[in-house]
Amino acid sequence: MKALLLVDDETEKIQISEVDNPKIGPDQVLIQVKAAALNRRDQWIRQGMYPNIQFNTVLGSDGAGVVVEVGEAVENALLNQEVVINPNLNWGMDPKVQSSEYHIIGMPTNGTLAEYIAVDANRIHPKPEFLSWEEAAALPLGGLTAYRAVFGHGELKHNENVLISGVGGGVAQFAFLFSLATGANVYVTSGSKEKIDKCVELGASGGFNYKQEDWQKESLKLTGGFDLVIDSAGGDQLNDFIKMMKPAGRIVFYGATNGMPSKLDVFRMFWNQITLQGSTMGNDLEFEEMLGFVNDHQLKPIVDSVRPLDEAISAFDDMREGKQFGKLVLKI
Ligand SMILES: NC(=O)c1ccc[n+]([C@@H]2O[C@H](COP(=O)([O-])OP(=O)(O)OC[C@H]3O[C@@H](n4cnc5c(N)ncnc54)[C@H](OP(=O)(O)O)[C@@H]3O)[C@@H](O)[C@H]2O)c1
Repeated sequence: MKALLLVDDETEKIQISEVDNPKIGPDQVLIQVKAAALNRRDQWIRQGMYPNIQFNTVLGSDGAGVVVEVGEAVENALLNQEVVINPNLNWGMDPKVQSSEYHIIGMPTNGTLAEYIAVDANRIHPKPEFLSWEEAAALPLGGLTAYRAVFGHGELKHNENVLISGVGGGVAQFAFLFSLATGANVYVTSGSKEKIDKCVELGASGGFNYKQEDWQKESLKLTGGFDLVIDSAGGDQLNDFIKMMKPAGRIVFYGATNGMPSKLDVFRMFWNQITLQGSTMGNDLEFEEMLGFVNDHQLKPIVDSVRPLDEAISAFDDMREGKQFGKLVLKI
C-alpha cells in the first residue's frame, strides 16, 4: 500500500513509499482510510523536534475510514462500518492524567497517512453521519485536545468571555467552534486579518491581531477582561494574558509553540486568583463526549484544504509556514 513514511534522509524526512499492508491481531480491525489530517505534531516529528523519533513509521494521528477486516475476537457487525479513529493509546486508569505507557497513533505505532491502518477495535467510533470523510478525519486529535481544554479544564459557561489565541491553528479552530456552540462571548487572536474577519463572520464577538502593538489594551477596553483564555503559543505572551483576565480567570494551555516565558507575573496571579492550567489531548471518555458534542451541535470542522496523499509534503510545508486556517486534510 501507499503510505507517508518518516525516513532517515538528509534532504527530506517524509516520503510517500510502498509498504506492506498491515496485518491485524485478534482484537484489531483493518480500516481502509478514506481521509486523514495533519497535526502540528507531524511537522514537529518531520523537523526532528519530537521525543523518541523512530524512522520507517507511518505518520498521522487523524483518520476516518471503513472497516474492511475484523480480528477473530472482534464482532463481525463492525465490518463495513464507517468510523473515526481515537488516536489515544494506553491512556490508563486515571481520567485526569495519561499513564506512562501512553502514546499517540502515528509514531511509534503506525499512523493514518496510509491506505490502510490496523487499530484495536476499541479505538473506533461511528463517523458522524452529517460529516464528509474529510470533515470527519479532521476531528480526532484536535477535537479531543480542544474539548478537554475548553470544558474539562476550562469549564467554559454560557455568556462567559473566552479568548481563543492563534485561531488559525488546527486545535484552536475547534476551541473556537466549541466555545461558540456553548453560547459564550468568543474573541480570537490571530496573526492574520483574514482569519479574524472569517471568525467574526462565523459568530466571534471580536478579534485582535497579536502582531499589532497594544492589542492587549484594546482587548481589555472592548471586553472588560476574559474568564477563560485557551492558548498554545506560550512564550512571554502568557504575562499579557495574566493582565487580561477577570478575577478568578482561567488560562488553559495545551502547547508552547513560542517556547517558555522569560518570567511569570506570579504577583498578579495570586492576587487575582488566576489559574494557569496545562492540558494535553484527553481521555477516552472525553473522546466519546467530544463526538457527542459535535453530533448534538452538528459542528463542521473548519477545513483549510483537501489534497491527495501524493501532495502531502506541500500540506506539511503549509503547516510549517502557518498558512492554514483550520485543518489540512489528505484524501487517501
Ligand atoms: N498537548 C496536546 O495534546 C497538543 C495537541 C495538539 C497540539 N498541541 C500543540 O499545540 C500547538 C498548536 O497545535 P496545532 O496542531 O493547532 O498547530 P497549527 O495548526 O500549526 O497552529 C499553530 C497556530 O499557532 C498560532 N500562533 C503562532 N504564533 C502565535 C502567537 N504568537 N500567538 C498566538 N498564536 C500563535 C497561529 O495562529 P494564526 O494562524 O491564527 O496566527 C498558527 O496557525 C503546537 O505547539 C502543538 O504541538 C498540543
